Amino acid sequence: MIRSVLIAATLAAVPFAAMAGAPRRDAILSDYATQASQANPGFSGFSAQRGELLFRTRWAGGDERTPSCTACHTDRPQGPGRNAKTGRPIEPVAVSVNPKRFTDMAEVEKHFSRDCKSVLGRPCTPLEKGDYVTFMAGQ
Ligand code: HEC
Repeated sequence: MIRSVLIAATLAAVPFAAMAGAPRRDAILSDYATQASQANPGFSGFSAQRGELLFRTRWAGGDERTPSCTACHTDRPQGPGRNAKTGRPIEPVAVSVNPKRFTDMAEVEKHFSRDCKSVLGRPCTPLEKGDYVTFMAGQ
């Protein structure tokens, strides 16, 4: 009896864990939306297109080994990446193949601050962060 309850609970937990990412990602996006509208009262939503531009643009001002996000995350977000500084593999960043992406605010903020500094030579704005997450959520 207890055993079958445990099995049922385990089975029920699997799809729940897989789906739990979306509300957490939405909460992160709504946090960035609040920050973006505080910075600019004309803020009217995030754009996947701008997020893609941020991802693919070759910026100037950062570390010369990492002119763009694609230097480590590659041109194809669905595929694995490789750290251009350390050579270490990086899991895909596209949400369709890696649903746990952008679901932990501390993790997301930690990497935005480090990676934007490395690529752009400055912090990303809340608008840029929201655009990037919106783009990757559709990939
Ligand atoms: C020097 C290599 C490198 C570059 C360049 C880089 N990243 Fe990353 N990024 C990483 C690594 C390593 C991780 C953490 C490992 C992982 O999540 O698989 C990561 C993770 C992230 C995460 C956290 C994802 C999550 O799971 O929540 C975000 C957000 C991110 N990167 C954004 C960017 C953006 C935006 C750019 C371009 C401006 C960029 N990265 C460029 C190496 C890089």
